[in-house]
Amino acid sequence: MWQPIMDDVVAKTKANIERFGDQFPHVSLNDQYQLNDNTDWTDGFWSGLLWLCYEYSGDDAFKEAARRTVASFRNRLDNQVELDHHDIGFLYSLSSKAQWMIEGDEEAKRLTLEAADVLLNRWRPELGIIQAWGPKGHPENGGRIIIDCLMNLPLLYWAHRVTGEQKYYDVAVAHAEISRRFLVRGDDSSYHTFYFDQETGDALRGGTAQGYRDGSTWTRGQAWGIYGFALSYHYTKNKAFLETSIRLAKYFLERLPEDLVVYWDFNAPVNAETKRDSSASAITACGVLELLKVLPADHPDREVLERGLEQTMKGLAEGYSTVNKPGAQGLLERGSYSVRGGNAPDDYMIWGDYYYMEALMRIEKGHKGYWYE
Ligand code: GLY
Repeated sequence: MWQPIMDDVVAKTKANIERFGDQFPHVSLNDQYQLNDNTDWTDGFWSGLLWLCYEYSGDDAFKEAARRTVASFRNRLDNQVELDHHDIGFLYSLSSKAQWMIEGDEEAKRLTLEAADVLLNRWRPELGIIQAWGPKGHPENGGRIIIDCLMNLPLLYWAHRVTGEQKYYDVAVAHAEISRRFLVRGDDSSYHTFYFDQETGDALRGGTAQGYRDGSTWTRGQAWGIYGFALSYHYTKNKAFLETSIRLAKYFLERLPEDLVVYWDFNAPVNAETKRDSSASAITACGVLELLKVLPADHPDREVLERGLEQTMKGLAEGYSTVNKPGAQGLLERGSYSVRGGNAPDDYMIWGDYYYMEALMRIEKGHKGYWYE
């Protein structure tokens, strides 16, 4: 049923290889992807999309292009280009780790392990957190965590599996645990970020970077939490992470609007102008597919998750996919990067494209993404 869309994804991505050359797409402006030289937090998604298209089509053009991106990621790590943030997992899970999974390439494995060490360096033992952004002791961000980081923990869990070194596992579990305690609220909504006092370690307050306001629930943050806690469950088998992922997913899926693709923030006032975030829906589809893989057939929440997944995929395919727009560069319309900041509030997002194809590959091919081996 999804194959025509997947064939279209492959055709568009192939055209984009020519278009983008050695650069990396980020978000679009006037329907054209903005490109960078592998300096942004999003550049692994292009690699991951190339690897998925290679696995789906078997076309070597994707493999060659994906390998070239991994070479660029080697250069980025060696020269420490824009790596002072937590998004190392997004960058290296989908590029070098994917290459290691697909081709068994030992250099790709070495590179991924080096990347895991870069992420590990963001651990602040005195606070018990992985610092989201900036250098240690940064006045604004030194004690700050972010829900998105849940998606970067698989890099550490994987490094533990591959090396047997406990430190990777312990940091990932501790960070997932503190995220569960402070980012997830009692009504199953979430903070985007949370601040701890850098002197005392005291929990200070929730906040946001891209949401509607500090105490609102930014839909993409909720989506990162759904998928991220499901992946922490995969690696730890800790039921608390599984339950947290389910709670976040139900909150999300119970709030789908009429056309089934979420607005950008669950607390943003809704009117005809309110922006969407199709990328949050695509991420959530993948997270729910991961949950459905592990929940027993008689689990009481299966039905609501299955229905929500079906609705989300239908909403994306019918109202947001570019399948009927042959010249389009992106795969999903109407993502939003930062609505309040006025940065790509209604555009293509490369991560939306990646997660859409991951969801399709999960559904059609039983693929599981590149987050665990
Ligand atoms: N991780 C940043 C974002 O989702 O925009």
